[in-house]
Order: sequence, then C-alpha cells, then structure tokens
Amino acid sequence: MQKEDFFTYQAQTSPHPLGLEVSRAKGSYIYDQDGNPHLDFVAGVSACGLGHCHPRVVEAIKTQVDQYMHVMVYGEYVQQPAVEFAKLLASHLPKKLETTYLVNSGTEAMEGALKLARRHTGRSQIIAANRAYHGNTTGSLSLMGFEERKSAFRPLMPDIRFIDFNSEEDLQKITEKTAGVVLETIQGGAGFILPQNGYLEKVRKRCDEVGAMLILDEIQPGFGRTGKLFAFQHFNCVPDILVIGKGMASGLPVGAFVASKEMMADLQDHPKFGHITTFGGNPVIAAASLATLRELTETELIPQTLEKEKHFRKLLVHPLIKEIRGKGLMLAPIMESKEVTDYLVLEAAKKGLILFWLLFESKAVRISPPLTISMKEIEEGCDKILAILNSYKPGAVN
Ligand SMILES: Cc1ncc(COP(=O)(O)O)c(C=O)c1O
Repeated sequence: MQKEDFFTYQAQTSPHPLGLEVSRAKGSYIYDQDGNPHLDFVAGVSACGLGHCHPRVVEAIKTQVDQYMHVMVYGEYVQQPAVEFAKLLASHLPKKLETTYLVNSGTEAMEGALKLARRHTGRSQIIAANRAYHGNTTGSLSLMGFEERKSAFRPLMPDIRFIDFNSEEDLQKITEKTAGVVLETIQGGAGFILPQNGYLEKVRKRCDEVGAMLILDEIQPGFGRTGKLFAFQHFNCVPDILVIGKGMASGLPVGAFVASKEMMADLQDHPKFGHITTFGGNPVIAAASLATLRELTETELIPQTLEKEKHFRKLLVHPLIKEIRGKGLMLAPIMESKEVTDYLVLEAAKKGLILFWLLFESKAVRISPPLTISMKEIEEGCDKILAILNSYKPGAVN
C-alpha cells in the first residue's frame, strides 16, 4: 500500500528504485516493515558515519529541539551549537581554514565555494576534473565531468574547463585566468580514485604560481571515512576552500565551506549578503554536527577505519573481484563486468545486505558503511557478497 503511494505521489529519479520499505534504523542496520534487518554497507551514501541514530547525536538533537529550532537567517544571531561546531572544527584544521559557512547540502556548499573563489580573485574561470561529481544544482552540475549526465540540462555555467585527475601535464591549463580549481580529494563517482604521485601537492603548487584558489571537495571522504578527519590530511596540501557535508551531521541535511577569515570576509560586502540561506546553520542540525564531531574526535573511530579496511580487503578475495579501490571505509570493489556488479547489488538487496553502484564507474560496487561497523558485521556482509558471487552465472541479469 505504502509502496503504491510512493510510486504514485513521490517523484523518483531512477527507472527501477530499490523500494525498500523502511520502518526504523539503528547502528549498522535498516529494518523493513516486516522487521527484517538489512545490513547497511552504504550508510545513506556515506552520510551516516556514526551509524543510524547514534545515541549521542539523537540526544543532542532532542536537547536542541526543546530549546529552539529556527530563529533567523544565517549569520545574524549568535547560536551556540553553530558557534561551538565551527570553533571545534577550526581546532582540527590548519590555521588558514578557520572560518566556516554552514549551508543546507553538499551542492550548496560547492556553490558557495565557487562564488567565494570568483569574488576573491575577481576572475571567472573554474577548472574541474573529468569524471568529477560535485552535486546537482546548476553550478555544481556544470563541474560534473560526465557529459551523459549533464547534457540534457544545458546551457550550464560558462567558463569551465576540464582536466584529467592525476594528470600532471594538464596542470598547465591552470593559468592566471583561473579563479578556482575544484577537485574531489578522492574521486567518488569515478570509482574511488586516489591522487597519485604527489598530484595534490603539484596542483597546490600550480595554484600558488598563478594565484588560483584550490577548492577541495571532501563531502564524501570527509569526517573520518579515510582514516583522517579529512582526506587532504593524508597529503601535504591544504586547500584554500574546503567543502564538506554528508557525514557531518550523521544523517541530517547539511553542508559547509571553510576558508580563511580574510577570504570569507569577501562575502560581507560588495555585495553584502554575498551568500545567504534561510536554514544554513540551523541549530538542530548544528547540534547534530557538534555531537558528531565530538564523537569522531574523542574516540578511536577514525584510526579504526584503517583496520576495518584491512579486514574488508582480507575477506573480499574472489576471482570476479578484479581490484578494490579506495581508502578506509570508502571502498569500491571493481567487478569483472557491469553485469556482475548489477547482479551483486540486486541479489544483495534480496538477501538483507545493502550495496549500491557508483555514479560513473559501472563495474564498481559501493562499500561505504558506518564507521561504527563492527568486525563481525563486516564478516557477515562479506560472507554474503562471496556467496552471491559464487552463485553468479553469466546472463543472470536481464
Ligand atoms: C563528492 C561529492 N560532492 C558533492 C556532493 C553533493 O552533496 P549533496 O548531495 O549533499 O548536495 C556529493 C554527494 O554525493 C559528493 O559525493
């Protein structure tokens, strides 16, 4: 009944939605209407880093809801959860990333970052990477390095050029005309591609040479998923603007862009209200963000992601798995073919294991579980994956 209404009254954006009927979620599991558990290896697409309904986050939300929920547009009133979150975040970041602008989603954070880079440099050109994903509003969509998914929405934002991620040669395309270079620290939709051979350091150097702003999109790898609070902290490269979201509020809608105080001041004048939002910095969401950041930084969850990665890599050995890309709990087994990937994701859904695809790499399977997942739960999920792969026969997917 509810499923019928879902298809009748709610818009879908894929031809065959998975359609799991959710009743509740806790820890690493989502429970359906019949009470069946589904082990969640996707975590709301990397958003539920602390698992579902983490008690510390739930408590912080409830406490805040009892005090006040929304009082004024962003940046006018002093609201304790947002102030404390921004201060704590700054204490875990390099000095030049000291000021945070809170918004409603990852894509809005990217829009804000683009505006800030243009406003700060007085230039318009933006450089992005092929096979990049930065969100779905028009500005972010313009940066998507995958024509098939954006051509229907043209004309998009002008003055954008593309480079190949990890190509040193392409860095020459970054010039004195460039306002900002936007990169995912680890490319997500492309198949969890890590920067190689000092790539980010070289991009940083080139940006410094020409006065372009380096914008790193950490919406997916951020908040501990790769073994550091942010993935750029694995490299000797600090962005001018850091863009974050997803795992930040443990499942509530959120995003932020972070830069120096001096740079951020550009949004205060000429024009004033250089970026405004009604709900950005919402106190309930900020309280969830603060509780999440405290939990991540006061426990061993972040370093433990690397132990958990090792466990996955040890267990996921099968002739149909050609390699496993990614880092920490952002892993993408690459299957022999797209058909194997489709079979695995769809069969897993029937067997109580949640997996998903990546946007542009059709042979990849997304594994981005909660950081709180236990070794036993990892074993439970990997056993299912191996059993499904053992049952695969060519032609199994129509
Ligand atoms: C790297 C990256 N950037 C931006 C976004 C967009 O974030 P949101 O969906 O919150 O707008 C995503 C979401 O998947 C992402 O993975």
